[in-house]
Amino acid sequence: MRTSLFIFIFMFMMWQCDCLRFVCPEMCRCSIKTISCTSATEAMAQKQRGAFSRLVLNYIHLRTISSFSLDGLRGVKRIEIAQSVTLETIETQAFNNLLNLSEISIQNTRSLVHIQQRAFNNLPKLRYLSISNTGIVVFPDLTAIASLEADFILDICDNLHLQSIPPNAFIGMTTEDTTMNLYNNGFREIHKHAFNGTKIDKLTLKNNRKLRIIHRDAFIGAFGPAVLDVSSTALETLPSHGLQSVVMLVARSAFSLKRLPPLNTLESLREAHLTYPSHCCALLSWDAHRESPSSAQRNGSSYCEHQSPLDK
Ligand SMILES: *[C@@H]1O[C@H](CO)[C@@H](O)[C@H](O)[C@H]1NC(C)=O
Ligand SMILES: *[C@@H]1O[C@H](CO)[C@@H](O)[C@H](O)[C@H]1NC(C)=O
Ligand SMILES: *[C@@H]1O[C@H](CO)[C@@H](O)[C@H](O)[C@H]1NC(C)=O
Repeated sequence: MRTSLFIFIFMFMMWQCDCLRFVCPEMCRCSIKTISCTSATEAMAQKQRGAFSRLVLNYIHLRTISSFSLDGLRGVKRIEIAQSVTLETIETQAFNNLLNLSEISIQNTRSLVHIQQRAFNNLPKLRYLSISNTGIVVFPDLTAIASLEADFILDICDNLHLQSIPPNAFIGMTTEDTTMNLYNNGFREIHKHAFNGTKIDKLTLKNNRKLRIIHRDAFIGAFGPAVLDVSSTALETLPSHGLQSVVMLVARSAFSLKRLPPLNTLESLREAHLTYPSHCCALLSWDAHRESPSSAQRNGSSYCEHQSPLDK
């Protein structure tokens, strides 16, 4: 009885404070089925209230964010879409020509299944894109982003129905260095040429527990990665080429990874955190015999951590 009273008071307070309800942002126009945030609606709001740099669309009740819903905004730097139970589709050019936008975060929208081609179109200042905990089944098209920013960070995490990374998945996203955090998705396979045309600083694939295959040509046409983390995956081996820039390899709790690629393909490796102690020994004895000029500078090499296979 007391509990239900508390729940009632809690619900009442939430309702009062709009915490769980979608509120149409001042810089947009909303109807039951549409939202429109454009340079015109932004300018009107700006006259009354000054510039807005953040656009928050939490608990949005639409099924679709249609083409040109977010178009030409000038001042907005961050757009957040989260906690929607209705959102299913983000249409082509939904995010269009947002010239000052540096961050997009789409999270906790489990009904979101479709992100159409070119949904993210011409976002030259974008530096951070997160698509996490959604229901998407196809890898989102990132190829029309055309960011000019260095140190781009891409987070694609907790998308349990997302099964693969297709060829050329990141071409056109940015031509500069990228950190890719691709954690805990439903990935089973990374296709050939997946990373073609990218400069990858750090690639984290950890906790993709169903990931069994990275195609041997997945890294063809890519620069990097310098850091590769394949911890807690089902990988049985790593590609036999394309890993020559890897300085640090992390493969903790990767119990299926019983074979490493030929060690001379990991020519820049300085640090490794591996699951099986025997791999560490192989690396150490290989390191001792390496005769390339750079091997003299490998004082810092650390291949064997004290780690039991049960560590997480
Ligand atoms: C982008 O943001 C900066 C800083 O807030 C502002 O000075 C500039 O006018 C904005 N650009 C446009 C096109 O509005
Ligand atoms: C790799 O990307 C380049 C553009 O960066 C493209 O011209 C080429 O066709 C791509 N290769 C494959 C095999 O798709
Ligand atoms: C490696 O160690 C040697 C001596 O143990 C030292 O002279 C040398 O400067 C070190 N090199 C680097 C790159 O730290």
